[in-house]
Amino acid sequence: MSIIVSPSLLSADFLHLAKDIEMVNESPADWFHLDIMDGVFVPNISYGLPLVSQIKKAARKPLDVHLMIIQPERYVEAFHKAGADILTVHYEACTHLHRTLQQIKSLGMKAGVALNPHTPVHDLDDIIQDIDVVLLMSVNPGFGGQSFIESTLQKVTKLKQLIKETTSSACIEVDGGVNFETGRRLVEAGADALVAGSFVFNSPDPKKNIEGLKNL
Ligand code: DX5
Ligand code: ZN
Repeated sequence: MSIIVSPSLLSADFLHLAKDIEMVNESPADWFHLDIMDGVFVPNISYGLPLVSQIKKAARKPLDVHLMIIQPERYVEAFHKAGADILTVHYEACTHLHRTLQQIKSLGMKAGVALNPHTPVHDLDDIIQDIDVVLLMSVNPGFGGQSFIESTLQKVTKLKQLIKETTSSACIEVDGGVNFETGRRLVEAGADALVAGSFVFNSPDPKKNIEGLKNL
């Protein structure tokens, strides 16, 4: 099966967002990755619910929403209404992760859990069966265009092993510093899905980079 590619709109041209959304619609990308930042969990503020609802009207692929916010359980219903198909919360931001995942799934969305670079994979030992998507951060969340953190490759291997040892069907998604070179190594290590922001939207030929990632 080919790799899932989820272009991050954080690096898109917000003055001409419809154009970039259409480019992703027409490309072989699988999902739209939307980065929601609250300026508290991460040192940056991105965009919120009104924009997600607008993106939903133009997007013809699932919305993969990455919440970098504290107490994300407060907004599960709102992001569902705005059109999220996959809703990912940070492990580090959730006191009652099990409850939050059930809340997400009860609304018909896929439930994702993101791990910061310092959070060990084994923290998911007792919850892996309840997760649809594990999002491994390969940069410190908050900004696009940062360099890939090498230790993520070992985390992918460990996570693959954990999934194999259990009855989990979780998908392994990696976010941050993804390009052809890091992407290829991530796929070899066992990643199922790749997020790419600057590598897609800062390229003179974004569609070609999406196609290249699809064919890794
Ligand atoms: C970072 C975000 C990423 C970001 C990735 O906090 O979660 O999704 O857009 O950007 P690149 O691909 O440029 O590292
Ligand atoms: Zn992200």
